Amino acid sequence: METKLIDLGKEFDRGIAEGARLIRSGQVVAFPTETVYGLGANALSERAVAKIFAAKGRPNDNPLILHVSDVCEVDALAVVTGRAKLLMDAFWPGPLTIILKKRPVVPDAATANLPTVAIRMPENPGALALIKAAGLPVAAPSANASGRPSPTAASHVMEDLAGKIPLILDGGPCKWGLESTVLSLVGEPTVLRPGAVTPGMLSAVIGEVKLSPAALSPLKEGETASSPGMKYTHYAPKARVFLADGEPGELAKTAAALYDGCKAKGMNPIILASKQTSGFYAGRVYDIIGDRTAPETFCASLFSALRRADEAGRQAIVLEALPADSLGLAYMNRALRASGFCVCSSPNEAHSFLEEQP
Ligand code: TXA
Ligand code: MG
Repeated sequence: METKLIDLGKEFDRGIAEGARLIRSGQVVAFPTETVYGLGANALSERAVAKIFAAKGRPNDNPLILHVSDVCEVDALAVVTGRAKLLMDAFWPGPLTIILKKRPVVPDAATANLPTVAIRMPENPGALALIKAAGLPVAAPSANASGRPSPTAASHVMEDLAGKIPLILDGGPCKWGLESTVLSLVGEPTVLRPGAVTPGMLSAVIGEVKLSPAALSPLKEGETASSPGMKYTHYAPKARVFLADGEPGELAKTAAALYDGCKAKGMNPIILASKQTSGFYAGRVYDIIGDRTAPETFCASLFSALRRADEAGRQAIVLEALPADSLGLAYMNRALRASGFCVCSSPNEAHSFLEEQP
C-alpha cells in the first residue's frame, strides 16, 4: 500500500477532508496531536479497530484511547461521573485521558474486553478538525510500531508504518512529545500513566489522586497491570539504554562512567545530556536534549533523540535521570521503561553495573 503524506501547514482543508473520508470508510489515518502522533480509526467499528492493531503489530489485549472533539460526545460512550465532569471542564481539550465505565456501543475490540473505556479530547487543531469531520469517536494509539518510541513527528510515523497505512497528516512536531496522562476514575482516582497534566494539577480539582506503583517500578512476577499497556516493553530504541541517577554533581559523573564503560565493552555510546551537564562530557559523544530546570524540554525531545541515536547506529544510550515530580515524573516513567529499569546511581558502581548486564 502506498502511504500518502499531506502537510496540514500547507493543505489543512484537503488533509482533513481526505483523512475524514478514509476514517469514515473504515481505514486508518495517522494524525498529529499535542502529545504524540496517533493512528486513528472508527472506534465504533470492530473491523476498523482491528486494522489499527494489525498496522502497529499491537497485542490485542492492550486497549485503545477513544478521541472525541466535544465533551458532549462522552455521554454516549461512557458513564460520566461528577469528578470526570470537573476534570473535563478543567483540562479538555488537552493531554488528559480519563478511564470510565463503558457503554455497550463501544466494541470490545477497542477496550480489549475491559468493562472500562479510555477517552480524551485532544487540543491540537488538526486532531480536533479530523475527529469533527469524521463525525465519529476516533480510536487511536500512538502511531509507532508496537514497542518503539512514540512518534513526535510525521517522519517517525513514516519510518515505522510506511506501506502499512494509507495516509499520514503532517502537523509538525508535537508540543509535549510524551503521551497523555492516563487517569482511572473507576475506583479511587489513580494515575496509571503520568503526563503533562500532573497529579498535583489533578488533585487541585478533585482532591486525592493516587499514583499507580507501576508508574515508576517494574511489575512484580504474577502482578496484573491496571493498565494493560504497562506490562509491555515500551519506548525501546534498538540500542541498549542505561539511566544515570544520583545527586546533581554525581549524576553527570555516573553518566560519563557508564559511557566510558560501554566504550570499553566495544559499544558505540551516546549520552542524552542537558544544558547544565554537557560540560562534564568533554571528549564523549553527546546530544543536548534539555534544560534540567525545565523538565518539559526533556519530555519534548526524549523520543526523537532515542530515534536519532538509533539512526546514527549508536549501540548504547545513556540517559540522565530527573527528579520524579511534576513533568519530571512523566519523563522518568518513559526513561525507566526505555532502559528496562537499568538504573545506575553512582560512578563507582558503573563498572560492576555494566559487568552484570547481559
Ligand atoms: O497521548 C496519547 O494518549 C496518545 C495520543 C495519540 O492521543 N495515545 C496513546 O495511546 O498514547 P496508546 O495506545 O499508545 O496508550 C494508551 C494507554 C495504554 O497504556 C493502554 O493500556 C491504556 O492507555 N488504556 C487504554 N484503555 C484503558 C482502559 N480501559 N483501562 C486501563 N488502561 C487503558
Ligand atoms: Mg503507545
